[in-house]
Amino acid sequence: MADNKEKSGIRRNLTNYGDPEFAAYLRRSFARSMGYSKDMLNRPIVGIAQSASGFNNCHRYVPELVEAVKRGVLGSGGLPVDFPTISLGEVFLSPTSLMFRNLMAMDIEEMVKAQPMDAVVLIGGCDKTVPAQLMGAISADVLAIQLVTGPMMAMPFRGERLGACTDCRRFWGKYRAGEVSDEGIDEIEGNLATTAGTCAVMGTASTMACVAEALGMSLPDTAAIPAVHADRIRAAEATGVCAMNMIKTKGPRPSAIVTEKSVENALRVLLAIGGSTNAIIHLTAIAGRAGVRISLEHLNRLSDETPVLIDLKPTGSHYMQDFHAAGGMSALLLELKDLLHLDCLTVTGETLGMRLARPVPFVDRGVIRARSVPITPAGGLVALFGSLAPGGAILKRAAADDGLFEKEGRAVVFESLEDLSARIDLPDLDVTKDDFLVLKNAGPRSPSGMPEAGYLPIPKKLAQKGLKDMVRISDARMSGTAFGTVILHITPDAASGGPLALVKSGDRIRLSVKDRKLDLLVSEEEMNRRREGFQLPPLPLRGYARLYNEHILQADGGCDFDFLRG
Ligand code: FES
Repeated sequence: MADNKEKSGIRRNLTNYGDPEFAAYLRRSFARSMGYSKDMLNRPIVGIAQSASGFNNCHRYVPELVEAVKRGVLGSGGLPVDFPTISLGEVFLSPTSLMFRNLMAMDIEEMVKAQPMDAVVLIGGCDKTVPAQLMGAISADVLAIQLVTGPMMAMPFRGERLGACTDCRRFWGKYRAGEVSDEGIDEIEGNLATTAGTCAVMGTASTMACVAEALGMSLPDTAAIPAVHADRIRAAEATGVCAMNMIKTKGPRPSAIVTEKSVENALRVLLAIGGSTNAIIHLTAIAGRAGVRISLEHLNRLSDETPVLIDLKPTGSHYMQDFHAAGGMSALLLELKDLLHLDCLTVTGETLGMRLARPVPFVDRGVIRARSVPITPAGGLVALFGSLAPGGAILKRAAADDGLFEKEGRAVVFESLEDLSARIDLPDLDVTKDDFLVLKNAGPRSPSGMPEAGYLPIPKKLAQKGLKDMVRISDARMSGTAFGTVILHITPDAASGGPLALVKSGDRIRLSVKDRKLDLLVSEEEMNRRREGFQLPPLPLRGYARLYNEHILQADGGCDFDFLRG
């Protein structure tokens, strides 16, 4: 059979020897050393970016998904070739997985551009993986489709269901308050996450799965299928088929899918699901790769008119498996239909409107509410601005105590994570339930790499009296599975010399969620005096940490690198 002379399949992105025909011949020769027939090597190639790792429990079933994607590609006349990328297991990375999201995005972008593939299937799930894969794919702008690994199952345990990770926090809070014993917490530890898959609630991984589908980058109704459900494997096979269809129809590319309109659709979905605060950072970064800017003022406008419709933990009571069984993303999108841009393209080549013309056979209204009876009439997230956060801050109001929304308090300041862990439980800590806990140096520029530490623990002496929530303020992030009146992503962060760096214990802070305000009640003269004593932390000496520190954008830039934005 004659070789494919077009720049597709195995002839794409030839290695440069100064002789393209030699490069093609050498590549075919080495590919044939892996046992491929010439017929196979003349087919279009679907790359499968896979991120399985012994350090990533959430991706435990990726090999099975890879096999199913391959089946779909082979059956449609293509050659599937999987390749490894770095893997970001949320709890296995130090200082944080966010610090490495951009590294993974660069890995994806460069390997998709450098290797011979006509389309790529992106398989991932754990928190930073889907953002990294989408960021890289958009920048590469090769035909791409996202396949998420799916959520784990919440499993029965002593008369209730447990699933990571809202339940992790609930039991840890009880343990800290002395309500659960050492033996009890050990037993819980072994029962929180008992199947493969990403966290079982509407945390960051689940939120990003829904966002990817809302953007149009994955197949309909695949966001919520549990990792261990046979539908997940069927979705993988269908994803392989879809990748081949994209090659045959020459589109749509990520640049045609991720647009200002589809980003707004994704924001609507993020708000309606009461999604993770982390998703604002990730969606800002993803959109930024496509040259689309997300303003926090626009987020507030959308939030005011987008109801929360999904009753899932951490804000509600159900798990992702219930969302799937209740009708999934199609049922949700149908409820939001009049708020969405229906002309947005999706990976199938259909518009969102075409997709939503199909009826949803069953909807469980206990999990997915109708618009007429929302869980809350306004969206789950709100941005705050003011003298403490000139570039904005985020509050997940859906997961907060609204009794704390209009309040002035005394700052109790922790200079760093180390200071927090050293003092938060001291019996003589000067703190009352009406104070505002403030954590500094946990933002994107800090050496801690913007950890999910914004959910500051309630000081032990208050927790033991039964206090469950108080105002907490930081430049950190918060796990999507957490809850509380937690104000995050203060911009600019303390390590960049933002006003947060200058707050002292005893200062007064005023919060008004109604007015979207967060103000530090300290005079300008005093702030100027404090500013004179501020010093930027030293730059890391070498390697990725140095690159990160020199180029990381603030939360309002999605914490992307300045040189990678579209
Ligand atoms: Fe991977 Fe929660 S730890 S999704």
